[in-house]
Amino acid sequence: MRRFFLLALTVASFVHARVWNDTGVGTIVFEEAWSTPEIAVTVGGAPALGKTIEELQANLVDVHNHRLALMDEFGVDFMVLSCVQPCIQGISDPETAAAMAVDLNNNLADLISNNTLRFGAFAALAMHNASVAAQELNRTVTELGFLGALLNDYQQSGPNDDTLLYYDQPEYDEFWQMVTDLDVPVYFHPRTNVEPILSLVYGHGFGLEGPAQEFAATLSTHILGLCTNGVFDRFPTLKIIVGHLGERLPSDLFRTDEQLLRQVPLGIPMQRNASSYWLTNLYETTAGNFATPLLQFHKSQIGLDRIMHSIDYPFALISEGQEWVNSLGDVLTREELLELKRGTAIRVLKLDD
Ligand SMILES: *[C@@H]1O[C@H](CO)[C@@H](O)[C@H](O)[C@H]1NC(C)=O
Ligand SMILES: *[C@@H]1O[C@H](CO)[C@@H](O)[C@H](O)[C@H]1NC(C)=O
Ligand SMILES: *[C@@H]1O[C@H](CO)[C@@H](O)[C@H](O)[C@H]1NC(C)=O
Ligand SMILES: *[C@@H]1O[C@H](CO)[C@@H](O)[C@H](O)[C@H]1NC(C)=O
Ligand SMILES: *[C@@H]1O[C@H](CO)[C@@H](O)[C@H](O)[C@H]1NC(C)=O
Repeated sequence: MRRFFLLALTVASFVHARVWNDTGVGTIVFEEAWSTPEIAVTVGGAPALGKTIEELQANLVDVHNHRLALMDEFGVDFMVLSCVQPCIQGISDPETAAAMAVDLNNNLADLISNNTLRFGAFAALAMHNASVAAQELNRTVTELGFLGALLNDYQQSGPNDDTLLYYDQPEYDEFWQMVTDLDVPVYFHPRTNVEPILSLVYGHGFGLEGPAQEFAATLSTHILGLCTNGVFDRFPTLKIIVGHLGERLPSDLFRTDEQLLRQVPLGIPMQRNASSYWLTNLYETTAGNFATPLLQFHKSQIGLDRIMHSIDYPFALISEGQEWVNSLGDVLTREELLELKRGTAIRVLKLDD
């Protein structure tokens, strides 16, 4: 009994007293993709200019070599890894998806276990069943020391992959309850759409699928669904992170608020306007969207305390993200820049708790 108690105490203090490479100035980045070799070979799309698809796939799999060397060279203190899109959200069968999520999470925990000074993880979750997702989130956070979850937009489902599950529906309240009980953030990352959306909506314009247009269009709709369906009213402490400078949402709040307010008398269940949730529940990161004037505009709309730096490696280069953020000393005070690079992330990810 006494031995068990001591063991439990050791495990608990291991999880809570996180030791990470806090230089006081380096960045913390957390829209950073990783995958197993089996998943990496299925990743297509357009690599960064001058890079090949083979390099991209190798960079997804690598953690301790090239990736870490770039982090050292360009001043990244700590990186949170997550499974490249669509990952589990692209698996329609619920049992296969749930089993694969557990495998991937164990695999990632093992992989980074010898360097938790530099690496943390977000859980991959099967979202077919809110209760299964909640239990796996709890396991990864309490037993593996994960910092939250990253969901690749909607969960595809059904025998023909054509049932799309959005987490703004009441059956997901059980999941959001666990998220808020654990007090961890959930990152919403875009995914490639299922057929027939791909061909019906993007078939006419080669290149519009993916990050140029499809990602922001599809994911921003899911985020607004969380607002309009009252998820943040039911879970006021819920923290959701949206990458790529908020998938354009904070660029268009005037029109979104004005038009949604017209729907309130028609019965949409949200209790506040959309922009107000950016002050209490939603955060954005700069991942893959290194645009200084846009950052300044978003600062004026939602405040710098809702914005955190990230890179989107290996789809964006570590050098590019780091050189950009370090150039912001021209437009931000030293204190603001430190908050953007690390301060807000330390609190949201609870690195020092
Ligand atoms: C801590 O991070 C910096 C980059 O910000 C790196 O240069 C340094 O080597 C790291 N220290 C350890 C012990 O990993
Ligand atoms: C962690 O293990 C990997 C794989 O064996 C190795 O390449 C890496 O150097 C190790 N890192 C540390 C900090 O020991
Ligand atoms: C979800 O999973 C739980 C626990 O495994 C199970 O009891 C429940 O029936 C499942 N719900 C659905 C809709 O399949
Ligand atoms: C979460 O996991 C912990 C540790 O396994 C367990 O004690 C706790 O009951 C779980 N919480 C819920 C709500 O299932
Ligand atoms: C949105 O709500 C906030 C209060 O929560 C209010 O200050 C603001 O004026 C509202 N914006 C619009 C466009 O209605």
